[in-house]
Amino acid sequence: MENCTFYLFLCTKTEENMKNIAIFASGSGTNAENIVRYFSKSETINVVVVLSNNRNAGVHARVNKWGVPSFTFSGEEFADGKAVLDKLAEYDTDLIVLAGFMSKISGSLLDAYPDKIINIHPALLPKYGGKGMYGRHVHEAVVAAGEQETGITIHYINEHYDEGTVIFQAKCLVMPSDTPEMVAAKVHVLEYIHYPKVIENLLAVL
Ligand code: GAR
Repeated sequence: MENCTFYLFLCTKTEENMKNIAIFASGSGTNAENIVRYFSKSETINVVVVLSNNRNAGVHARVNKWGVPSFTFSGEEFADGKAVLDKLAEYDTDLIVLAGFMSKISGSLLDAYPDKIINIHPALLPKYGGKGMYGRHVHEAVVAAGEQETGITIHYINEHYDEGTVIFQAKCLVMPSDTPEMVAAKVHVLEYIHYPKVIENLLAVL
């Protein structure tokens, strides 16, 4: 009897119960793939589509092999917003997750998805943020400054680079002998552990 009740519960899950994530990514896409993997067995959260501004980005192959479709839009299309918004609507997007996305988010996207666009930055903002501070540039600056710690910041997107409200931060140590590559590896570990969980917690209250 208990089994029957459980079965009925599963059957009543509809697409309306699902929360749909669109990931924006420009590069290798290890975070994007990690998020896709994390939610691949979820009953309530689905990564429905990946959008990129780089047709040669590694992220396409990484997510396509999980059955997630990906599309490329030009820098102009991202700046204009219309075609990107149409694609997001087509996939019934609830939350936009930036994972190594290196293009500016247009005002029209911000208006259409208020407090529903989040980013991960590979440092402890407000340190090492702003224009030009992305990927390895961040880790090079951290090492050059002799920092003893760095980490990740997950934050909402607003109209200024890396200035939206902070949702979550986690730290790791930087040793005097660490190279930027070694720091990047430590930061990636933090990203893989925390980004999917923070997304899950946000979607639970959306
Ligand atoms: C990640 O470390 C992410 O934090 C960073 O780009 C990397 C992408 O790696 N994002 C930024 O620098 C944004 N300012 P991935 O393509 O392997 O996920």
